[in-house]
Amino acid sequence: MTVTFEKKRVLPLSNLEATEALGASLATQFRRGLVFLRGPLGAGKTTLVRGWLRALGYDGPVKSPTFTLVEPYELDSVQILHFDLFRIANPSEIEYIGMLEHLETSQLQFVEWPERGESHLPDPDLDIQLEYDGPYRQAMISVENVDKY
Ligand SMILES: Nc1ncnc2c1ncn2[C@@H]1O[C@H](COP(=O)(O)OP(=O)(O)O)[C@@H](O)[C@H]1O
Ligand SMILES: [Mg+2]
Repeated sequence: MTVTFEKKRVLPLSNLEATEALGASLATQFRRGLVFLRGPLGAGKTTLVRGWLRALGYDGPVKSPTFTLVEPYELDSVQILHFDLFRIANPSEIEYIGMLEHLETSQLQFVEWPERGESHLPDPDLDIQLEYDGPYRQAMISVENVDKY
């Protein structure tokens, strides 16, 4: 699967494997940058990250960093951070946890629930919205910083 990035294009995701495959496909197209993952609980944000990391050769567990806030992955070719800001109550906590300094120690960052810290975060390079579609899911992707790639 190759994903083309037209604004407002909706990608249907009919099962878990499709969500992982979208992540895997994006992994081949985006090697560096800040990726926002939006959408309600259970929409598939962590599933997409799992597919992305698997495609980069990581075969360990990929769990939601809901309680730890951040999960680091050191792969051969790239240092990755996976944030989940669900439990952030106030965007100013972003500074308290030193998130911006963290971002600089890695080349690729995933942020679930970016809206919890939005005003305190840099603009994303890739913005992914996942939604429920009955029992299925759908994704909308926009590329914000296309020059970077
Ligand atoms: N395209 C899909 N269709 C149906 N179920 C899906 C799809 N993608 C993922 N799922 C399921 O939905 C749940 C999503 O969980 P998770 O990825 O942790 O969501 P989030 O991180 O958005 O809270 C998982 O149980 C997963 O198996
Ligand atoms: Mg999650």
